[in-house]
Amino acid sequence: MADGQEPAIDEVRARLAAARTVGLLSGAGISAESGVPTFRSGQVALWEDRRPEDLARMETFRQDPGLVWRWYLWRRGLVAKASPNAGHVALVELARRLELTVITQNVDGLHDRAGSTGVIELHGNLWRSRCMGCGRTRNDFSARLDVMPADCAHCRSPVRPDVVWFGEALNTTLLDRAFRTACVSDVFLVVGTSGVVQPAASLAAIARENGAFVVEINPEPTALSQVASVSLRGKAGEVLPALVA
Ligand code: OAD
Repeated sequence: MADGQEPAIDEVRARLAAARTVGLLSGAGISAESGVPTFRSGQVALWEDRRPEDLARMETFRQDPGLVWRWYLWRRGLVAKASPNAGHVALVELARRLELTVITQNVDGLHDRAGSTGVIELHGNLWRSRCMGCGRTRNDFSARLDVMPADCAHCRSPVRPDVVWFGEALNTTLLDRAFRTACVSDVFLVVGTSGVVQPAASLAAIARENGAFVVEINPEPTALSQVASVSLRGKAGEVLPALVA
């Protein structure tokens, strides 16, 4: 954690102590200390010289489903080896004390595995696949990581990862819940996201416009730093436990 932040940490602690409703938007950075690479740096951004923006697309899946599935199976493999870190765990503790709604852009399921409940997974879940024919979803948590998932057991259509791809709309029910959370939060925490992907990124501004105290937790300045009431410069796995200590 950067030096000299104790007064800001104390202020956020006091805001949390006084808050009735708290919202939180997380991004890939909250899982970085679990060993899951973020989107805009490192391994995921560089997989076989292809960009996530090109792989996470229906056009690419139509042309080469095997390629896209290989990328997702590789990512499932990374997440399978990972465990929730101190940041995920601190949120479970925070939820014991106040009404906390976790909204995540992450598809890794680590908030759930840490024990958070009612998580709004705006971009879907890496472990689910969805039938392209009948739309049924299934959990692939114990499926093999070295072969493409089997076709749908009900209608025999191919399945795709149940995640939101570029150019696709988010689930409106989840999005409504996320917007409502942003509107009613006394404190809104924005953790480990570069804040460049909409509509998730707009939640921080909506929270602020509706009177929330917005706290950014990120080692680096981001597109959302200007929206934040305060920015805590440090890792989620250090700052979040400090806030609930
Ligand atoms: P990014 O990879 O864009 O940003 C990760 C952020 O985490 C950066 O701002 C880092 O500075 C920060 N970070 C790194 N380590 C951290 C740590 N230990 N603690 C806290 N922060 C840390 O990931 P996202 O913002 O999540 O969408 O990306 C948003 C969306 O873009 C993803 O959900 C995905 C992608 O395209 C879809 O696939 C639809």
